[in-house]
Amino acid sequence: MKKKIVIAITGASGAVYAKLLLEKLQQLQSQIAEVAVVMSDNAKQVWQFELDNQDYQNLPYKFYAKTDFMAPFASGSAKFDTMVIVPCSMGTLGRIAGGISDDLITRAADVILKERRKLILVARDTPFNLIHIRNMATITEAGGVICPAVPSFYSKPKTIEDVAMTVVNRIIDLIGLENDSFRWSEE
Ligand SMILES: Cc1cc2nc3c(=O)[nH]c(=O)nc-3n(C[C@H](O)[C@H](O)[C@H](O)COP(=O)(O)O)c2cc1C
Repeated sequence: MKKKIVIAITGASGAVYAKLLLEKLQQLQSQIAEVAVVMSDNAKQVWQFELDNQDYQNLPYKFYAKTDFMAPFASGSAKFDTMVIVPCSMGTLGRIAGGISDDLITRAADVILKERRKLILVARDTPFNLIHIRNMATITEAGGVICPAVPSFYSKPKTIEDVAMTVVNRIIDLIGLENDSFRWSEE
């Protein structure tokens, strides 16, 4: 079955992760039925600040306003299988853990959890306080996956984008898409 995926982008540092994931999903489109995107206001600001562009506007996906509760994935009946929040701020993570569905991102995450589908939070901050850690535990107990934006280096990445791709490739694996990426102990 082809995947129906929601990508939410929030105002944590790491807009490059969202950029690379959205680009990679274009390459994997034969496995995907639909990608829907929603960005927080802070996500747009951080993207501009970190990447010096608004190139998300050129991507061939449908973007939804974060106030749009009429979006299909605001309801479980639309049957989106997977939601990735990338990068995920501690604020959004806390609102999801508290069940505060006051915008499309937190509502869609709430829907994915209640329908027992896959919620992947690419959480980013450092260090974590106890509130962050407890919120991550709550979301894990509710069935979500905390996939922190923590790169690996054993593939010997050369550029910033190579480093960021180590996280993006793990996200692709978690979504359940076939992907030709570095695998430890394979040639
Ligand atoms: C340049 C920049 C970097 C930020 N990085 C982080 C971060 O890594 N983690 C985080 O939780 N918040 C970070 N913030 C703060 C969030 O943007 C802020 O808490 C915001 O309310 C999050 O709202 P949102 O989740 O609706 O996007 C950053 C803000 C700016 C301006």
